[in-house]
Amino acid sequence: MSSSAGLRDVIAGTTSICTLDGLKGELFYGGIPIQELAENATFEEVAYLLWYGRLPKRDELNALQAELRSCAVIPEAVLSMMRSFPASAKPMDALRTVVSALGMWDPDADDNSAEANRRKAVRLTAQIPTIITAFNHLRNGREPIAPRADLSVAGNFLFTLTGQEPSNVATRTMDVALILHADHEFNASTFSARVTIATLSDMYSAITSAIGTLSGPLHGGANEAVFRMLEEVGTVDNVEPYVHGILGQKGGRVMGFGHAVYKTKDPRAFELQKMAKALAEESGNPHLYQISTKIEELMLREKNINPNVDFYSATVYHVLGIPTDLFTPVFAASRVTGWTAHVMEQLANNRIIRPRGEYVGPVDQHYVPIDER
Ligand code: COA
Repeated sequence: MSSSAGLRDVIAGTTSICTLDGLKGELFYGGIPIQELAENATFEEVAYLLWYGRLPKRDELNALQAELRSCAVIPEAVLSMMRSFPASAKPMDALRTVVSALGMWDPDADDNSAEANRRKAVRLTAQIPTIITAFNHLRNGREPIAPRADLSVAGNFLFTLTGQEPSNVATRTMDVALILHADHEFNASTFSARVTIATLSDMYSAITSAIGTLSGPLHGGANEAVFRMLEEVGTVDNVEPYVHGILGQKGGRVMGFGHAVYKTKDPRAFELQKMAKALAEESGNPHLYQISTKIEELMLREKNINPNVDFYSATVYHVLGIPTDLFTPVFAASRVTGWTAHVMEQLANNRIIRPRGEYVGPVDQHYVPIDER
């Protein structure tokens, strides 16, 4: 038996939801290239595609939009629990805790039928943006802003964040960012959701596991680290010394670069780069984009490593006015569609996930009484 560090290149199961080609730099949801979805679809259509394996017809999309709008509010009891959170709590910790708690208020929580899980997938997708912005208001001593019944998921996120009617450009930018992050095959957090549901636990346990897994800086947490890095770099002239400083350290990592599967530039990074360029220029923040492209150039020259999804998303989120420590929760607000799709797919053909470990410890040992050790 031999092991692969980090399960790299191990095929851990089958899926019809999403696939990617790491050498060609291609990503497909339900067989559709991500670029086509980013150009033409809405996040709601993509959620339907991930959950049902096909694009919705108009009446099916209308029904899903109505359902999402009807359940975006979170129970008052959950809000009161949130009022007791410390203002210093990390937003991903708050999100993980609230999603876990929501299960206790959901009458469907323990029903693992496909229909009940679909309802829970819709509720979680509608409620996660509300939780994120409610937490942000509460920690700043303000009352949460209730979601509106006439806005999309992207529109409601921006509206409940600021209380201002979001512009069409801002809503569409947010929508595309949500589309681009919605699924990514057997990434760490999705795999963690699949492992959890495969024990026949429940949707809330699976999504709570996934949120915990997403929070690390090697996964979803990278987008926040990228923005902090751009701030620290500060000027285009400082890019070379800054990046050389990181690369000179043993194990030094430039955040937003490298990928476990893509050996080329992440296809999502191309789309986010276009948006970052347009937004940074329009909003009077061109330096953020200039610093980013200079880092990209340098990383390619020095390490032959390309940017991943988190690199340009940081600029996009900042220009949209999203506080830096909410970037990773925003990733969760999108990826919840993929997580829930994978939970349903796993349950449809379930076997508990239980790999083996390659033993490298001592052998031929014997118990030694405590006084003789
Ligand atoms: N900065 C500098 N060097 C990097 C790097 C980065 N961001 N990512 C990978 N490398 C280097 C490693 O140092 C290693 O070099 P070595 O062989 O000389 O030691 C080589 O590239 C391979 O890296 P490895 O750690 O084996 O890749 P991985 O598949 O295990 O890790 C990531 C993938 C994503 C965890 C890794 O690239 C990373 O830590 N990136 C930064 C965090 C990030 O942006 N995460 C979001 C992912 S979407």
